[in-house]
Amino acid sequence: MPEHTALVFKTSANPNPLPEASRLAAFQDLGFGTLFSDHMAVVRWSAETGWHSAEITARGPFAIDPASAVLHYGQEIFEGMKAYRAADGQAVLFRPEENAKRFNASARRMAMPELPTDVFIAAVEQLVTMDAKWIPGGDGSLYIRPFMFANEVFLGVRPSREYIFCVIASPVGPYFKGGEKAVSIWVSEQYTRAAKGGTGEAKCGGNYAGSLAAQAEATEHGCAQVIYLDAAERKWIEELGGMNVFFVMEDGSLVTPPLGTILPGITRNAVITLAKAAGLTVHERPYSFDEMKADTASGKLREAFACGTAAVIAGIGTVKFNGGELVISGGQTGAVTRDLRSRLVGIQRGQIADGYGWVHPIAGI
Ligand code: PLP
Ligand code: COI
Repeated sequence: MPEHTALVFKTSANPNPLPEASRLAAFQDLGFGTLFSDHMAVVRWSAETGWHSAEITARGPFAIDPASAVLHYGQEIFEGMKAYRAADGQAVLFRPEENAKRFNASARRMAMPELPTDVFIAAVEQLVTMDAKWIPGGDGSLYIRPFMFANEVFLGVRPSREYIFCVIASPVGPYFKGGEKAVSIWVSEQYTRAAKGGTGEAKCGGNYAGSLAAQAEATEHGCAQVIYLDAAERKWIEELGGMNVFFVMEDGSLVTPPLGTILPGITRNAVITLAKAAGLTVHERPYSFDEMKADTASGKLREAFACGTAAVIAGIGTVKFNGGELVISGGQTGAVTRDLRSRLVGIQRGQIADGYGWVHPIAGI
């Protein structure tokens, strides 16, 4: 039996829970990631002991030594997932095993220890159970952020010999301020996100630190997100700063950039499955920005949308770039996008039967 199955989470309730949880139903606009639940899950790793000291405890700061490895070389990875209050009142997760798997793929890429899937899921389930009153009703959800960082006190450049895995949770509303309105996207021609052999496929903090200058440029141009082109030719559309991207063509088919240098989105994967089940053809193929411009002009490109855990599925209405602007679907969220969104959200929230085994109920809450 592997050592980790013996890990038991020691639980201590927060003696000073925040009053906000009791008012969640009244929060019309929760926004994203500013309010946090009362507890956190923590598991520690050391080269000598492996994973140990699992606990669910009051959410609070870590004491970090100034020489802690993460502060210097950024050895950090994270995940993003959500708990929903389903139509029948059950608390559910969406495909948490996929997050656990991707977390370990990121860990391997960043030379960090892998966390057994059962420990990852137990940490999430036990935190959500403890903080169940923080799952908002209505269209809200409890955004869950598992992460791991290097915590050895050491300045040499080599993998740390100590890590902390932690899970925190935040009740959220829509990721984009305009709610379900189509968003504007900025094409970054100066900055790239990932090169072949780089860390684009991993969910590591450094990828997001590197995206912030481009994101600031997008904000200056009135755009909500950046769309990145490939690093080698600056030609092929890759993904957004925090979402994958799909294009809907006039023949009803979908085009989405292939995996390789992009994050393999769990929403992307679900969209491909749902689109195929709805009879649409999906092409995972390189799609150039030039092709996109030509297809917008000719009317061949009908809709575009971004997808990810935080954003769910968001229509892209405008694409801005140095020297121009493309308007897609009259600047609105298109019909195919809306249909895929309602299929996905319906399954996630238990309003539509889940024929895929994606919905993961948390027993007892
Ligand atoms: N691409 C990037 C860069 C992301 O940060 C995310 C969000 O996690 C995604 C894509 C979408 O991934 P998922 O659908 O698993 O949330
Ligand atoms: C997510 O969708 O979970 C992400 O991590 C992306 C980020 C933009 C919040």
